[in-house]
Amino acid sequence: MTVPNPASATRVAPPAPLGMLAELTHRCPLSCPYCSNPVDLEKRSVELDTETWKRVFSEAAAMGVLHLHLSGGEPTARKDIVELTAHAVKVGLYTNLITSGIGVTREKLQELADAGLDHVQLSIQDALPDNADRIAGLKGAHEKKRVLAGHVLELGLPLTINAVIHRANIENIEALVHMALEFGARRVEIAHSQYYGWALENRNMLMPTREQVMKAADTVERLREELQGKLVIDAVVPDYYARRPKPCVGGWGKQSLNVTPQGKVLPCHAAETIPHLVFDYVTEKSLSEIWEHGSAFEAYRGTSWMKEPCTSCPRKEIDFGGCRCQALAITGDPANADPACSLSPHHAKITSLALKAADSGKSDYVYRSFGGAKGGPRVEITRS
Ligand code: SF4
Ligand code: FES
Repeated sequence: MTVPNPASATRVAPPAPLGMLAELTHRCPLSCPYCSNPVDLEKRSVELDTETWKRVFSEAAAMGVLHLHLSGGEPTARKDIVELTAHAVKVGLYTNLITSGIGVTREKLQELADAGLDHVQLSIQDALPDNADRIAGLKGAHEKKRVLAGHVLELGLPLTINAVIHRANIENIEALVHMALEFGARRVEIAHSQYYGWALENRNMLMPTREQVMKAADTVERLREELQGKLVIDAVVPDYYARRPKPCVGGWGKQSLNVTPQGKVLPCHAAETIPHLVFDYVTEKSLSEIWEHGSAFEAYRGTSWMKEPCTSCPRKEIDFGGCRCQALAITGDPANADPACSLSPHHAKITSLALKAADSGKSDYVYRSFGGAKGGPRVEITRS
């Protein structure tokens, strides 16, 4: 594995990030097998306290962050979610609540709206309630989401629906999009599962076939035309069947940062899978110091760390070589071109992994849990 030496690169102060993802807690009532949280979830006992989160939000606003994504796990599992939201609004951040919708009462949503919450992003697992509940690992979850969407509308908050797409729901994209319309959303994200964290553990159970992916792309294009002016459809393409990679997180250390429940600051949600990186904590350094000088951010910022074929590629300032975490997971070196790129010498490997996974016929999810992938439930769980 190539370990970059940031000290050798010419240092130019990076522009402020546009967005910050605050993973307030990893606790969540759902157990989705595609969750992008790390397999080793951070326990409640290590979560940052209210005052520290408020300081972090103030620092984020002062350094120029515009969007704050209040995320998790389920962010409303934090008892101080209203106080945290109010503080973020006070310091001038645009606040987006990323929620499963479970356990969020109308009263709580009213308090959040009164605190100045700007936007709600609600996840749904499928258009078919039984299948949605099976994927989420919680009986009755889907109906609770429908109820929450109603409250969001009544309170006049803008709503985005997020649907992670995989083998068990890819045939239902049209119904999912119409469900988003019915829920009153202005935007829907059709986001093919990205294979990090729990999704990587479940790759054999989640991967769609190439035919399903192609059909899904046609469906999204047709729906975009049909619903123009009524609903915005964002689509995140599936890497494993791509020819060119996405500019993951908008470029490493370029547009966004993540803060984990215990205050670890990450360039992306899967950065901890890269073993040589050292992460800073908001309890030890200021957010701006970490963003500007943290060794994990410096490691793959810009293009000086790249290897061929990226070094001489005209797209290197467009996609920044794709995803570092995927390059590590599939090629063993995070400084390699993302193997989703057809110019990568490892591209055939990602294609064959996709075909093998799609053909596995497996459906026994390893559900997300605090027990880790080995300790977590491997079969359907439908708690009530
Ligand atoms: Fe992007 Fe590198 Fe592929 Fe060029 S070679 S398209 S920079 S991943
Ligand atoms: Fe880490 Fe893409 S998920 S760079």
